[in-house]
Order: sequence, then structure tokens, then C-alpha cells
Amino acid sequence: MRIDILTLFPSMFNPLIEESIIKRAIEKGFVSINLINIRDFSELNNNQVDDTPYGGGGGMVIMCDPVFKAIESVKTEKSKVILMTPTGKVYNQSIAYHLSKEEHLIILCGHYEGFDERIKTIIDMEISIGDYVLTGGELPASVVADSVIRLIPGVISEESLKSESFTDGLLDYPVYTKPREYRGMEVPEVLLSGDHKRIQEYRESERIRVTKEKRPDILN
Ligand code: ADE
Repeated sequence: MRIDILTLFPSMFNPLIEESIIKRAIEKGFVSINLINIRDFSELNNNQVDDTPYGGGGGMVIMCDPVFKAIESVKTEKSKVILMTPTGKVYNQSIAYHLSKEEHLIILCGHYEGFDERIKTIIDMEISIGDYVLTGGELPASVVADSVIRLIPGVISEESLKSESFTDGLLDYPVYTKPREYRGMEVPEVLLSGDHKRIQEYRESERIRVTKEKRPDILN
């Protein structure tokens, strides 16, 4: 998969690409991440990319021209163009899963008051990561890229993906490691039994219990 991220602040993605699982996924060739500075596509003095809104009001609006040109510099017929915005469809694991099947994502990050509305004509999908407003789309784009890349086959083990939260509408089961007893708290006996059938039944029932307790809204 290839991901092009269009932003005014490319260095905000350094923490995503320079550590841990995502760094390894890039090194092993599962994904390539290309950071594009929208400012490089401005043809105005001082690489201006924004201007005041027509009709008045506060803040600055990102103009069409540098955004259209930045997108057109990487877009092919296989690209899916995503705009990060608090007014988009609220993101979840199911959307992450669908996006992980795409060959090429172009993710556009807003900043300031937003984009000129006319950029919506070259966008395929608008995504919000939740009902709150951030200073820009860079953190949301990192959230989307991270959640999608870890679902690309080979990036993390099939075993880890199988039972994780949200894959089948349930949260994950609780896990324990050594020591067996810590400050009087014991590891559940069934996990020490070596009986794989019992362990599997216990974990399934824990997933239902935990989901009922913490997220009854997703339990069907
Ligand atoms: N930009 C600012 N806030 C956002 C949010 N909640 N989701 C996506 N993009 C955003």
C-alpha cells in the first residue's frame, strides 16, 4: 500500500513513521508513506496557501489551487482521497478494515478554519476521528494511517488480530503475565490449567462480560 499525506506540517508525522510497528512496516515494504507539503504547490508570494473567508468571519481558509495541485500530483485511478475533518463520518474499526484493502490512500489534513468548500469535488470520503475539534487533521491522519497499516496482512501476527477489540463487535479479553500473584491479586486459575478448551471458553465469556460492562452500546 502507498499512503500520501498532504499537510502544512509534515514533521508532525515523524513520531508515526520513526518508531515501532509502523517503522518496521515501512522498512519491510508493506507500506510506503509519502509526506507532501501543500505549501510547495502554492504559486503565490511567500507560498501563501490560505486567505480570509468570503462573507467575513474569523480565521483563514485554505485555498483550492495548492490543494488541487498537490492531489493531482499523486492521484491515479486507483487512489482513494480522504479528507480529515470533524464534520466527516465517524471513524471505526470497520472503516479501517475496508481502507486496509485499498492500494493507494491520499489523506488530506486541514488546519485553520478549514478548506474552501470546492475541494470537496476531488474528495472520495470525509472522516472524523470523534466528536471533538482538534487544531488540525494531522493527529487524525496519524490515527487513520496507524489503524490501517497494522491491518495490512503481514504487518502484525494473524493471532493478535484474531481476537482483538471490535473485530466481531466485542471488546478484547483481559490478559495477565508473571508473577502469578502480585500484591495479593491472583491470576485466574483457568489460565494456569493448560486446558486450552476451558481457556478459550473463559476468554469468550470474558469478552461478553467486559463488553456488557464497558460498551453495552456495541453489544448486539
Ligand atoms: N480535524 C480537526 N478535528 C478533527 C476530528 N475530530 N477528526 C478529523 N479531523 C479533524
